[in-house]
Amino acid sequence: MENNTLLANVPVDLMYQALETEKGGVQIYTTALRLAINKDLREEWNKYLEQTKNHVQVLSNILKRLGLDPNVETPGRKVVRYLGTSLVKTMELASRCADPQAAQIVAAECVVLAETKDHLNWELLGELSKKATAEQSALLTPAYEQVEAEEDEHLYHTAGWTRELWIQALGMPAVLPPPEETRKVDTAIEAAQARKSRTANAKVTTNTKAKKASAR
Ligand SMILES: [Fe+2]
Repeated sequence: MENNTLLANVPVDLMYQALETEKGGVQIYTTALRLAINKDLREEWNKYLEQTKNHVQVLSNILKRLGLDPNVETPGRKVVRYLGTSLVKTMELASRCADPQAAQIVAAECVVLAETKDHLNWELLGELSKKATAEQSALLTPAYEQVEAEEDEHLYHTAGWTRELWIQALGMPAVLPPPEETRKVDTAIEAAQARKSRTANAKVTTNTKAKKASAR
């Protein structure tokens, strides 16, 4: 492997895209929080907003340590910025046109779309760190280890919220907070297990509510 693995065009483009995704993420969470009406969801997204602000710093520092200007415009980050701005505009549209419950679901869907890209970026940065020189890896690996676990939570937990908020809107028994939250899911396998467990949880919730109602 060459000495300048991270300084080749495609890896540099990925790092700029990752930075732009995080910067867009700050705007997306700020807007999504205005649409979030569930107290637990607000708490969760407030935490993710703070973590995302830190991810902006982490990536800016990596670029600087590699001798790259974090403010340089690239075609890749321009596209990512367009996507982030579109998601913010989508939520603003929902806040004007939809009822609060529906707007909250739109916000959750937008967060999942943004976090899908964010999660992929970090997965790829993790792969890149394995091929990097020792010096570059010393920069990238600690960042990856810190941030990737948070990205898992952002994506899998918000996907759970989106599904359950939709199920609630459809008039079916929802599990809120979602099992992804209570089971502290942070892998795709655990997310699948949490989805599978939701039917049992929903039945328990429904039965408990029914028992409480009949006891009154
Ligand atoms: Fe992030």
